[in-house]
Amino acid sequence: MTAQPTAARRPSHAVVGAGFAKQLFGRPAERRLRAALDEGLERVERVLAEQVRYADEVAQVTTTYLLDAGGKRLRPMLVLLTAQLGPDPVNEELDLAAAAVEITHLASLYHDDVMDEATLRRGVTAAHLQWSNSTAILAGDLLFARASQVFSELGTEAIRLQADVFERLVLGQMHETIGPREGQDRIEHYLQVLADKTGSLIAAAAVYGVMLSGAPDEYKAAMREFGEGVGVAFQIVDDVIDLSPDHGKTGKLAGTDLRAGVETLPVLLLEQRAERGDADAADLLERIRTRVAGTAPGSADPTLARPEAVGSADEDEIAAIVAELRDHDVTRETLEAAQAQVRRATGALDALPAGVVREALREFAERLVNRDF
Ligand code: IPE
Ligand code: IPE
Ligand code: MG
Ligand code: MG
Repeated sequence: MTAQPTAARRPSHAVVGAGFAKQLFGRPAERRLRAALDEGLERVERVLAEQVRYADEVAQVTTTYLLDAGGKRLRPMLVLLTAQLGPDPVNEELDLAAAAVEITHLASLYHDDVMDEATLRRGVTAAHLQWSNSTAILAGDLLFARASQVFSELGTEAIRLQADVFERLVLGQMHETIGPREGQDRIEHYLQVLADKTGSLIAAAAVYGVMLSGAPDEYKAAMREFGEGVGVAFQIVDDVIDLSPDHGKTGKLAGTDLRAGVETLPVLLLEQRAERGDADAADLLERIRTRVAGTAPGSADPTLARPEAVGSADEDEIAAIVAELRDHDVTRETLEAAQAQVRRATGALDALPAGVVREALREFAERLVNRDF
């Protein structure tokens, strides 16, 4: 039987976004911008609490579960930051867009944890384990619907962008789930998945700031390119962070992707080496596929599960294999690929006027790939 969602004590609310903004904009010349972002993030937090509100108790409890568990609020911060490019950098529509972008992200996390059989999210038990897969999926659906309601208040261009992002999010997740087509380059496929599942929403966040602050229309293309590059870089780094043992910091279990059979860039590069005759790479790849993949706790997706592997490796062995991959050259190469995406993102900034906002965006991109959380 499925547990009934009830109001429970939640961990104290931690908005990491404001702290991250402090790290990003430490220099004195940037203090005014930092203050504007800090104030903006506080307003967005209030808008989030207002917008994620349901008369229905089950809906309220399940949708606020991960909202209240924390999160870095990077996407709302990007909306507020690119809004500084326009003549009207602070207004209600921007706050609503920033909140709706975060609600979209939040919805995707509920669904993603079901698909990835994740155990931890934002430092708390993943929603599908707290209740059930169906409950987590429905909570995500409620949040997607709510994000659309908010965007519909902001005009046709805003809601159209949201619809396009939603489609790309789904396509990204779908292509990740199904895998590459026969003969398709696996790394190319992987990068397209990242652009769709992560780049699209981060790019939209950057575009909403331009759209709703009255900034020149021609900045939109640059912000789209910037956001896609940042998004892909961010997700590549996230896939490396997935190998980190410090889940106190990441809020996720080490090796979640590997356990669920999701092959991210380090594994694809390992495969490339193995195909070129590198026996050590082939050996590590084999152990990842037979000893780690298919050992995700929770219900197994029959398309991913390797029944023979479930329970065959104990935690120490899994941890050792994850650590071996983390220390392998392919992980360094993976981080270099992230750096290349950051260069693509920062290259797009040339279309913006020189100044504190452009520099902050550059720093935003560069810091993201050097993060360890
Ligand atoms: C997690 O995003 C999902 C990815 C696209 C990598 P974040 O790392 O921004 O998650 P929160 O919002 O801080 O929890
Ligand atoms: C990000 O993908 C999820 C979405 C963009 C919907 P991942 O599955 O790689 O992210 P984490 O590692 O669970 O946060
Ligand atoms: Mg995941
Ligand atoms: Mg995923």
